[in-house]
Amino acid sequence: MYQIVSFIKFFFRSIKLHGVHSPFVFQLETKCFKDKTNYPEYKQLETYNNILSENKKTITVTDFGQGSRIFKNNTRKIADIAKHAGISKKRQRLLFRMANYLQFKNTLELGTSLGKATVALAINKQNKVRTVEGCQNTAAVAKSTLKEIGCPDVTILNDSFEKVLDEPLIFKPDCIYIDGNHNKEDTLKYFHKLLPQVHNDTVLIFDDIYWSKDMTKAWKEIADHPKVTVSIDTFYWGLIFFRKEQEKQSFTIWV
Ligand SMILES: C[S@@+](CC[C@H](N)C(=O)[O-])C[C@H]1O[C@@H](n2cnc3c(N)ncnc32)[C@H](O)[C@@H]1O
Repeated sequence: MYQIVSFIKFFFRSIKLHGVHSPFVFQLETKCFKDKTNYPEYKQLETYNNILSENKKTITVTDFGQGSRIFKNNTRKIADIAKHAGISKKRQRLLFRMANYLQFKNTLELGTSLGKATVALAINKQNKVRTVEGCQNTAAVAKSTLKEIGCPDVTILNDSFEKVLDEPLIFKPDCIYIDGNHNKEDTLKYFHKLLPQVHNDTVLIFDDIYWSKDMTKAWKEIADHPKVTVSIDTFYWGLIFFRKEQEKQSFTIWV
C-alpha cells in the first residue's frame, strides 16, 4: 500500500516538475534515459535472462538482506529467483545505457543475486565490475552464468557488504549500485562508508527507495547531504551525483 500511494505522489510530482532541468540532467534524460536505440547488447541481456529462467535446478539460499516478500522458504528454483528477484528487463537495459553513456570504467555493485544487473553493467567490456553477494550458492550461479555469456572478468566477492566496506576500496568507483539490504540504518551506513571514496563524476544508484517508509527517509537524508549536488528520483532508483560544478538540485523523472 505504501508503494502504491508513493507512486501516485511520485507520478504527479514528476509531471509538475518536468522541464526544470540542468543541461547535465537534460542530456542524461534525453540521450540516455529516453534513448530508444535497439542496442545489439539487449539480445545478450535477453539470452542471460533466458539461461536463468530455463534453469530448473534448486539452490538453498542464505538470506542476507531483508528477506523475501515472495518466497516462503530458502530452497528455491533458480528459474523462480530469476522471475521474482532482481532487476526488471526495462531497468536492466537502462543500467546498460547508463554504463555506456556515463562511460563507467569501475563499478561496485552491492547485491549480485543471479547477476542480472551485473551483466548489464559488464556487457560492454569497458567497465570493470566488482560485485558483492553474501549467499555462496547464489554467487556461484551468477559466476557460472556470467562466464557462459562471455563476462568472465567480473569479480564476485562472496562476502557481506559490511565486511567489504570495512576496507577502503582499491579503486575509485565511477558507479556504485546499491541493491540489497533495503533498510534505513544500513543504507545510511553504506552511504557514509562510500562517501570518502567517490570522485566528482561518481554516480550512486540506490534501488527500491520506496520499498518502505524508512527507505524513503534514508533516500531523503542522502539527497540532502551537503556533498550531494544532483539527486534524481526515478521512483525505483534514486540517483546521486557529486558534481561540484553543479548547483544543488533535485529532480523527479519517470524513466
Ligand atoms: C535484490 S537482490 C540483488 C538483485 C540484483 N542486483 C539484480 O538486479 O539482479 C539483493 C542481494 O543482496 C544480497 N545481500 C543483501 N544484504 C547483504 C549483505 N549485507 N551482505 C551481502 N549480501 C547481501 C542478498 O543475498 C541478495 O542476493
